[in-house]
Amino acid sequence: MRLFAMLSLLVLAACARAEDPLPLGASATDCASCHADQAEAFARSAHARSGRSPVLEAMIPHARAAWGEAAADRCVRCHAPSHAQLLGDLDAEASVTCLTCHAAVGNRGERDGLLLVDPSAPIGGPHGDGEPTPAHASRASALLGSSSLCGTCHEVTGPDVFVERTLSEHRVAAPDPNDPTCATCHLPQLDDGPIALDARTSRVRRDHGFVGLDPPWGADDATRARAATEATALLASALSLEVVREGDSIEVRLTNVGARHAVPTGVAFLRDVWIDVEIEGHETVERVIELGDP
Ligand code: HEC
Ligand code: HEC
Ligand code: HEC
Ligand code: HEC
Ligand code: HEC
Repeated sequence: MRLFAMLSLLVLAACARAEDPLPLGASATDCASCHADQAEAFARSAHARSGRSPVLEAMIPHARAAWGEAAADRCVRCHAPSHAQLLGDLDAEASVTCLTCHAAVGNRGERDGLLLVDPSAPIGGPHGDGEPTPAHASRASALLGSSSLCGTCHEVTGPDVFVERTLSEHRVAAPDPNDPTCATCHLPQLDDGPIALDARTSRVRRDHGFVGLDPPWGADDATRARAATEATALLASALSLEVVREGDSIEVRLTNVGARHAVPTGVAFLRDVWIDVEIEGHETVERVIELGDP
């Protein structure tokens, strides 16, 4: 089985090389030589270590035992896709990588990691009129900035507790075509400037740090501290807390003002959000409100 997978990878790699050579390689570090800012931010993100989580690693044998090989394969399809390997770089780490998004051409459904990544397609970007580079051809990709791209992986429909409906929640919270997409909030705009080494055009640049709540597995102390600060700021931008006193009653209102999906979203079964209320001279009233799966 493994040998077969290896062989088909080699065949696909050979086809990809023949049709569209990426002379400088296909892993994130190869893109880094010209797109240093995007690569530096991406390296800090949960995407860059999506195949490396020890929790995921520990769960996969259980997934295989409980729900079979197909279920375990599904975990791998989202967490450790081998798109860079398909493009010929067999040493590339299996994880979400630059090509996962920038070589995506569509999906077979907006869920469960059913993303179509075409190794022979030019690199998809916001522009399509890029300055020429020997590294790759470019094309304008509407899919790239859409919630459909992100939602293909951020919509998990099982098995069992693995139900994560971020895309569905987002579609309810952002029904208008002019509403913000996942990328509007999760790849915030930076100052305009060149987007590649030696490029002359000044363009919009976006932060590829994909700030979230997951621990930055294997990161050094400085990266951990930065992740904690950024995660706290993201959460603070999501929720507004109000305390209204009327006579003897006190109402605590928590409103989702900043996220266009549920808070928490995603792997909500691993997360808990709560409010403890402390009234001076009284005991702390714990767990006034609980969000997420019980
Ligand atoms: C040898 C340098 C070099 C390498 C390596 C390189 N690029 Fe580029 N890339 C460029 C240049 C130059 C542009 C055009 C910049 C412009 O027009 O402002 C560009 C443009 C882009 C764009 C914008 C395209 C558009 O039209 O919107 C994306 C996205 C991109 N590259 C992704 C990647 C990815 C992913 C990799 C790795 C697989 C990569 N690049 C490797 C030089 C490079
Ligand atoms: C999870 C998806 C995703 C991954 C992974 C990803 N990008 Fe992007 N990238 C985007 C989106 C979305 C945009 C903005 C699209 C738009 O504005 O319509 C973008 C924009 C860009 C641009 C245009 C300039 C800018 O800063 O906005 C470049 C260049 C680029 N990415 C390179 C990379 C490189 C290099 C990597 C890997 C180190 C990478 N991207 C990884 C989704 C991704
Ligand atoms: C190929 C599948 C895939 C695609 C496409 C994808 N993601 Fe992800 N994303 C993941 C996985 C898997 C994780 C969890 C990684 C981990 O923590 O181990 C993740 C994590 C994240 C996180 C961090 C969550 C946390 O709690 O730390 C954010 C934010 C995020 N993605 C946003 C996006 C956005 C925005 C897009 C589209 C531009 C996108 N993703 C596209 C698979 C994907
Ligand atoms: C209007 C801005 C906005 C949009 C649009 C948006 N998000 Fe978020 N997202 C947030 C904020 C704020 C948080 C932090 C609150 C939280 O923890 O849920 C967050 C948190 C997350 C997290 C971390 C998990 C969690 O519960 O904290 C993930 C993953 C995520 N978003 C993915 C997505 C995806 C995928 C889309 C599109 C389908 C999307 N977001 C659309 C603002 C947004
Ligand atoms: C459709 C894509 C998809 C599938 C299939 C999927 N996941 Fe995930 N998983 C994600 C995304 C996206 C996140 C991050 C969401 C967030 O942070 O809210 C995530 C987060 C996680 C996390 C928490 C972060 C971490 O890596 O430590 C674990 C653990 C996890 N998944 C395990 C699994 C296991 C085990 C399976 C198979 C039974 C599985 N996932 C199937 C997309 C997927």
